[in-house]
Amino acid sequence: MSATGAATKRLPRRTHPRTSTSAVEPPPWLLTLRLALHEITRHHANELYELDADPRVMRYIGSGRVSTRAQVDAVMRRLPRAYALYPGLGTWRATRRDNGDFVGWFALKYIPRTALVEVGYRLRYGAWGNGYATEGARELVRYGFDDLRLHRIIGVTHPANEASQHVLLKLGFVDVGWGHHYGRALRVFEAVQEPKWKPQWPA
Ligand SMILES: CC(C)(COP(=O)(O)OP(=O)(O)OC[C@H]1O[C@@H](n2cnc3c(N)ncnc32)[C@H](O)[C@@H]1OP(=O)(O)O)[C@@H](O)C(=O)NCCC(=O)NCCS
Repeated sequence: MSATGAATKRLPRRTHPRTSTSAVEPPPWLLTLRLALHEITRHHANELYELDADPRVMRYIGSGRVSTRAQVDAVMRRLPRAYALYPGLGTWRATRRDNGDFVGWFALKYIPRTALVEVGYRLRYGAWGNGYATEGARELVRYGFDDLRLHRIIGVTHPANEASQHVLLKLGFVDVGWGHHYGRALRVFEAVQEPKWKPQWPA
């Protein structure tokens, strides 16, 4: 599957150092019509904590419990390092382009201890229902296939997380059944980009 990039604009590769600790916002990694996706720095701990402190947001994530400050701090130590460890992949904070409001985050990253790349998203409750998840995830899938040349991208959801499943289906992902990830049984959806090269056989 190749997601359309019609409403999106790809930016030139970064020129700023990845290890910058400046409070100045680096340029966005990706843009959609309404969203800007930026790298996460240590300055964003509070908004990620507020996101994970909302039980409505965390209902279908992990154990279903909200994250503690210590858990978010641990994530905050990992996330910025992951950009250098896995070039091109990562977790990006999304803001509205019109007013800069924090919307949530999107990710294109390895599922731990696998070679599977997943698309993921977690949005503030107040941002739900506006098509943002579909818009941001569509751009990440396009980026994954067109720019990173990935062959396969998956999405994993709690079996009852119908909104998330709906997003994946709208992007053209296919339900391929159950998988065991993050210590639990989850529904697995996948999108595959057919390679352009095909074997040639003698006539
Ligand atoms: C899942 C989530 C990202 C969706 O964000 P969103 O911006 O509201 O998603 P979108 O508006 O792009 O699309 C959601 C679609 O699901 C539909 N939907 C919403 N709730 C639904 C439900 N309970 N059952 C079925 N469909 C539902 C919406 O109608 C919409 O479809 P439509 O465009 O055809 O009307 C958001 O709810 C969220 O952040 N949840 C908490 C974190 C989470 O669960 N992340 C996913 C982990 S796998």
